Amino acid sequence: MAENTSTRCLLLLVLVSAAAGVASGIADGPLPNGIFEQGPDASQLNGTRVTRQDAIPCWEISGFVEYIQSGQNQQDGMVLAVPEGAHAVRLGNGASIRQQLTNLARRSYYSITFSAARTCAQAEQLNVSVAPESGVLPIQTVYTSSGWDSYSYAFKARHTTAWLTIQNPGVEEDAACGPLVDAFAIKTIGPPHHEKGNMLKNGDFEDGPYIGPDNPWGLLVPPMDEDDVSPLPGWMIMSDTKSVKYVDAAHHKVPHGSYAVELVAGSECALLQEARTVAGRSYRLSFSVGDAGNGCAQPLAVKASAAYSSQVVTYESQGTGGSKRAELEFAAIADATRVVFQSMNHYMKPDGTLCGPVVDDVSLVSVHKHAARRLFM
Ligand SMILES: *[C@@H]1O[C@H](CO)[C@@H](O)[C@H](O)[C@H]1NC(C)=O
Ligand SMILES: *[C@@H]1O[C@H](CO)[C@@H](O)[C@H](O)[C@H]1NC(C)=O
Repeated sequence: MAENTSTRCLLLLVLVSAAAGVASGIADGPLPNGIFEQGPDASQLNGTRVTRQDAIPCWEISGFVEYIQSGQNQQDGMVLAVPEGAHAVRLGNGASIRQQLTNLARRSYYSITFSAARTCAQAEQLNVSVAPESGVLPIQTVYTSSGWDSYSYAFKARHTTAWLTIQNPGVEEDAACGPLVDAFAIKTIGPPHHEKGNMLKNGDFEDGPYIGPDNPWGLLVPPMDEDDVSPLPGWMIMSDTKSVKYVDAAHHKVPHGSYAVELVAGSECALLQEARTVAGRSYRLSFSVGDAGNGCAQPLAVKASAAYSSQVVTYESQGTGGSKRAELEFAAIADATRVVFQSMNHYMKPDGTLCGPVVDDVSLVSVHKHAARRLFM
């Protein structure tokens, strides 16, 4: 039986690699059996509960794990549609699933994308780890009307293989109350680098985590610690529990290029980057503020700040897309300066889900005030 399962996974691996057309290196896109279309045999299920560690091809489970069909009734009577394909996995108290990632390039950066839905428990979290690093992602705030959100996590590969583990650290009264997870994918990102004429890295947000073609709602980039690898190379997300949303031009309006960031959590969350500066020198931060074309029709205000300066920019959104340029000039007070973007308010779409201003195409340049003055002397 065990042999059977790993053979199925191997076959799938070969098919996925062939589809991606790569001979070596892990391909950007869904992980092998990342959408759980291949499930346990009937003999490895008791109701929905998976009874064998290796019952789900390409994955190993531990603890109370359920294999869920789309539309299946949840504990609380709610019927959840599954985002991709027809199956998902539910992680009970302390339960985890893991998959060995292979063909990683040592010292390269990767982002993991997956979808999760909170079920009956309230303050749910997911512990995502690619050993030895791990991060606890808060999933209690739901940003979509479907109940499913997509999350990103990033890591730097130390070896050519690594275990990706998703664990529900919860201790609910009802062991079956854990979150559902689905749609696992991977993408090579970074390392963060500067574009010519811009002191910021990845200022246009063109480098970032994988957004699947069937993901209409964007991808949450959760808060992180200072030394964590960011799924958005160059940028940090600072907050207790709130995230920003990474949106793509295929499903949203973005001011420039193919990607942008929507600030969906009011002033509780900051998008920031640290740049090298010279104290006393002047700098100009330029950026686009707009809306994602997702019905967030109200005046959307963003606060940009750096050193002792800040500026609030309001974009009169019709909810149909569009943007304007804005600038902040400031004098650096140290040899490193953080440029920070925050939404000024909590904004909501008519369906009650959170939305906010979109920030894109951010650049930072040094302003040569002295050179200009010399012309007049
Ligand atoms: C299935 O689960 C139920 C409830 O936990 C248990 O009573 C039963 O023995 C299990 N059946 C098998 C075949 O393990
Ligand atoms: C998260 O999971 C990793 C690996 O499974 C573990 O080492 C770590 O202690 C966990 N952290 C929390 C907060 O549960």
